[in-house]
Amino acid sequence: MQVSPSLLSANFANLEGDMEWLNRSECDYLHLDVMDGVFVPNISFGFPVLKHVARICHKPLDVHLMIVQPEKFINEVKALGAYYMNVHVEACPHLHRVVSQIREAGMHPAVTLNPSTPVCMLEDIIGDVDMVLLMSVNPGFGGQKFIEHTYDKIRQLRQLIDSKGSKAKIEIDGGVSLKNAKQLAEAGADVLVAGSAVFGADDPETVIREMKK
Ligand code: DX5
Ligand code: ZN
Repeated sequence: MQVSPSLLSANFANLEGDMEWLNRSECDYLHLDVMDGVFVPNISFGFPVLKHVARICHKPLDVHLMIVQPEKFINEVKALGAYYMNVHVEACPHLHRVVSQIREAGMHPAVTLNPSTPVCMLEDIIGDVDMVLLMSVNPGFGGQKFIEHTYDKIRQLRQLIDSKGSKAKIEIDGGVSLKNAKQLAEAGADVLVAGSAVFGADDPETVIREMKK
């Protein structure tokens, strides 16, 4: 299991302090939630902030864009040195073009589904992406309750990936903790995003290590 702690729950008054243990930890990525107040009802941080985070974080960056027209920011995400660029299916009427542009920019394209968007929406794109992010809460805020229907969606997505011979990983985001990590792994998840469960813990490094098991 891979783990991608979400910066949204970090201490924004001391990001260097958080990056110190995060760089030392066994986590696989740093998950960055960009929000625009339009696609989701909240605003988080933007590229001027992330530029500095990218400088002090030594983990590969997993950038989750909860914004309209994410294709406008491919160059900005690339400039961060991002590993994954995640765009929402609901935000991209020309998803194939956006995914191709992300790949051409040298990043790994990933697509995200809101809880109400069915897995079948991915049928014609699954062969072109390196990861699918299933939202297990409605995006916009950390610390929300995990939506149980996500387990069914993971199983459906695993079937779709296998039937199309895709290599896409399955990432889960929202309400993930040590309480449901094992069940998510059993359902077929490859990467767990965790905000409050990691940054809110007394010993985040141990939580990450346990989650990876
Ligand atoms: C929610 C974000 C998540 C968020 C998860 O819109 O996409 O990445 O940080 O937070 P937790 O793990 O606290 O639910
Ligand atoms: Zn996220």
